[in-house]
Amino acid sequence: MRTYNIALIPGDGIGVDVIKAGWPVLGAVARRFDFGLASKTLPWSCGYYLEHGVMMPADGIEQLRPFDAIFLGAVGWPTRVPDSVSLHGLLLPIRKSFDLYVNARPHRLLKGVKGPLRSDGFDILCIRENTEGEYSGAGGRVHQGTVNEVAVETSIFTRNGVERILRYGFEAARKRSGKLASVTKSNAQKYSMVFWDEVTDALAAEYPDVKVSRYHVDAAAARFVTNPETLDVVVASNLFGDILTDLGAAIQGGLGFAASANINPAGGVPSMFEPVHGSAPDIAGKGIANPLATIWAGALMLDHLGERQAASALIAAMENVTAQRTALTPDLGGASSTTDVAKAVIDAL
Ligand code: NAI
Ligand code: MG
Repeated sequence: MRTYNIALIPGDGIGVDVIKAGWPVLGAVARRFDFGLASKTLPWSCGYYLEHGVMMPADGIEQLRPFDAIFLGAVGWPTRVPDSVSLHGLLLPIRKSFDLYVNARPHRLLKGVKGPLRSDGFDILCIRENTEGEYSGAGGRVHQGTVNEVAVETSIFTRNGVERILRYGFEAARKRSGKLASVTKSNAQKYSMVFWDEVTDALAAEYPDVKVSRYHVDAAAARFVTNPETLDVVVASNLFGDILTDLGAAIQGGLGFAASANINPAGGVPSMFEPVHGSAPDIAGKGIANPLATIWAGALMLDHLGERQAASALIAAMENVTAQRTALTPDLGGASSTTDVAKAVIDAL
């Protein structure tokens, strides 16, 4: 039987609750589709930091490398460990070391879920560049604290970086409805974003079957609200993608649904799958976190591993639960617990 080895990093707060509830759901779908899922739980978190002074051991990346994928809950305990420490000690090193340059996030309403918009027939796949651009970390400050202080932060766009994220977008568009929206601000940012447009043009010639639309990011943000059904695959830089995917989460009913895949399409390293939400200290340990974002992230992981049927069955089971509205956590107006919802998804499977 084919078996996948998955590193589980529950992390902190509700990260622990949603992985504990979500992992057995993946086990159930694996049994139904005749493949194996083996796991090793790694305790790396803010709790681990308080005990050991580091978010993960010095050889953490090497420990992760042999796994087929990483399934992560959430990391952060802001009252005990600064967010800059927890983020830079675990999530960012994983994304950087394994060059997980694609951040893919699906935005659509599951059946029965009411979003804040009039429109409910949208199905957007946002593809955010995950390694460079505005978040490259190149910059500096001089004359600090004086009236002459200067702060510079330089965006870095490389041909390799821009081409590979757009290519991933074109391939995704080809498998979906054949539409790709490239988001820039090439009217105002006349070097990096004009360059992005040129790379888009060059690739468009290779994919004549994909219809390309271009939007400036401000107009794209408005379109997410007024006409989301006109969008399909959306490709954007690190900063623009970051902002648009929070908007995407909002229109799909909130953080309880937003799932994220951090992928290196070349393979050979583990890609990482996680809910978009954080550790939610306000509801941690209460057993009421919505596990659907995590289960959806699990479906993205199965799809990435090549288990497409299992991934679709899992999404269908989630939609069965949201459509019936019998097992819903308090954020959706219900009174069910995290584990109740996970059990309902297993039953629906
Ligand atoms: P958050 O996403 O943890 O929570 C924001 C709000 O949404 C809270 O009111 C929370 O109760 C609610 N919420 C989030 N997920 C939910 C779920 N599954 N079910 C029901 N309600 C849910 O964001 P916040 O409060 O800004 O950050 C808390 C900590 O998490 C911080 O330390 C932050 O750095 C960290 N964080 C970690 C992320 C990660 O590991 N990828 C992502 C975002 C934040
Ligand atoms: Mg964000």
